[in-house]
Amino acid sequence: MVKKARIALAALYLALPGAAALAADNIEGLARTCNNCHGTGGVSVGQSMPSIAGLSESYLKNIMMEWKTGARASANMTRLIKGYTDDEIAGLAAYFGKQKWTPQPQKASAEVLAKGKDVTERCETCHGATGGQPDDKDTPMLAGQWAKYLELELMKYRDEGFQMVHKKMTKNARKLEEGDVKTATEYFGAQSK
Ligand code: HEC
Ligand code: HEC
Repeated sequence: MVKKARIALAALYLALPGAAALAADNIEGLARTCNNCHGTGGVSVGQSMPSIAGLSESYLKNIMMEWKTGARASANMTRLIKGYTDDEIAGLAAYFGKQKWTPQPQKASAEVLAKGKDVTERCETCHGATGGQPDDKDTPMLAGQWAKYLELELMKYRDEGFQMVHKKMTKNARKLEEGDVKTATEYFGAQSK
């Protein structure tokens, strides 16, 4: 009797982590499909493609759900994300949220760095002085994110015809002078932390 119970118990212990591993495998499999564009493990090799590894889980989930419901427009992600269930989106957000943020500090001239510090003063309260200290879990890292991508995103927040959700970010993006958008994004892209 005792032996039988022990075997049953052992089987149970084996089955439990097995089931959890299957779910994790499943999400890892889905995450690999993102790597084609976002880079291995979500660390992008550049330009207009953002790194997503190490952005906060909450931010990742928010914006993916906004794309899925159509509340937020996107150039490339909307159609793709509609193919995932809410649970899969939550799983992907948790997966990439657990990865390490890997800044890709890009070169910028001393002039851009000095002017960038100036024109991003109003961004500091939420993003931190270098864009690397978001003040809450719904604010993305900017330090070492690809500057070209940041510029494209800022242009969306500034464009009244482009559907974005976050009112405060939209308002702040629109307060930048036209010529300062590139300066600001090169400044944040050049930061290592
Ligand atoms: C065909 C290329 C492609 C694939 C595949 C792809 N993405 Fe994207 N993703 C983009 C582009 C391009 C952007 C920039 C925004 C835009 O143009 O829509 C983006 C933006 C994002 C962002 C916003 C990042 C930020 O800093 O705000 C997240 C999050 C994201 N993708 C998650 C994913 C996940 C998760 C997957 C896999 C399920 C995935 N993407 C697959 C091309 C892709
Ligand atoms: C009130 C807080 C706040 C301020 C001030 C603010 N931001 Fe943001 N920023 C956010 C939040 C929150 C998001 C994510 C918004 C969303 O979910 O669409 C964001 C998103 C961004 C993004 C998109 C990053 C990505 O990965 O897609 C960029 C670029 C950006 N901010 C730059 C700036 C700049 C430049 C300034 C100053 C001119 C600024 N922000 C001021 C809160 C703020």
